Amino acid sequence: MTQDQLKQAVARAARDYVAANIGEGAIIGVGTGSTANFFIDELAAIKDRIAGAVASSDASKRRLEAHGIKVLDLNEVSELPIYVDGADEIDAELMMVKGGGGALTREKIVAAVARTFVCVCDQSKLVATLGKFPLPVEVIPMARAHVARELAGLGGQAKLRQGFVSDNGNQILDVHGLTIADPVRLETRINQIPGVVTNGLFALRGADLLLLATPAGVKTLRRAGATNPS
Ligand code: 5RP
Repeated sequence: MTQDQLKQAVARAARDYVAANIGEGAIIGVGTGSTANFFIDELAAIKDRIAGAVASSDASKRRLEAHGIKVLDLNEVSELPIYVDGADEIDAELMMVKGGGGALTREKIVAAVARTFVCVCDQSKLVATLGKFPLPVEVIPMARAHVARELAGLGGQAKLRQGFVSDNGNQILDVHGLTIADPVRLETRINQIPGVVTNGLFALRGADLLLLATPAGVKTLRRAGATNPS
């Protein structure tokens, strides 16, 4: 199976999960990236069952709208039963590194509102320890050099993502070489650096459910203590 076939399979599984776990007229949170794009294409098949979606990026918003799915501003929405998104890395506790597509801040905000975070990945994303994938950190442009020096103090080498501006008008530092022994602690620590908007560790709010595509089928892993969306 190709990686795209795995992404397609997991997107279909996520569509079925959404269809089985929402009430009529629910609003769904939708992530960003190539796996999320497959999911958006699948969501179109059940669009009559949802009232709309909240998107974690302008790119996902455009794709949803191209399918005729209404996109709402998060401020208009009081609850999101489910948020579906990919990850760059995920561990057995369903903590993640995200932001390879640069949408980490809006992804973290939408995830914070959602009752259930469903992560959709192919098996290459499951790791024993987070940190091989460079950690994205969104920064206010004037703070870039300061934040890079602070990250060096934490053992990471920050590289500016060239030619990239986030949907929020900010820059991204990709941080190589960090040892992520305690993801919750590191997420909290980096977010305390003045000028950091947020970092791509999703440990304080990880996923509740992982749908993992393998050549043998889509496996389901649930975070201990995770509740159902409805
Ligand atoms: C975007 C993200 C994506 O979820 C992550 O990069 C995974 O993307 P893909 O499904 O293309 O591998 O965090 O900011």
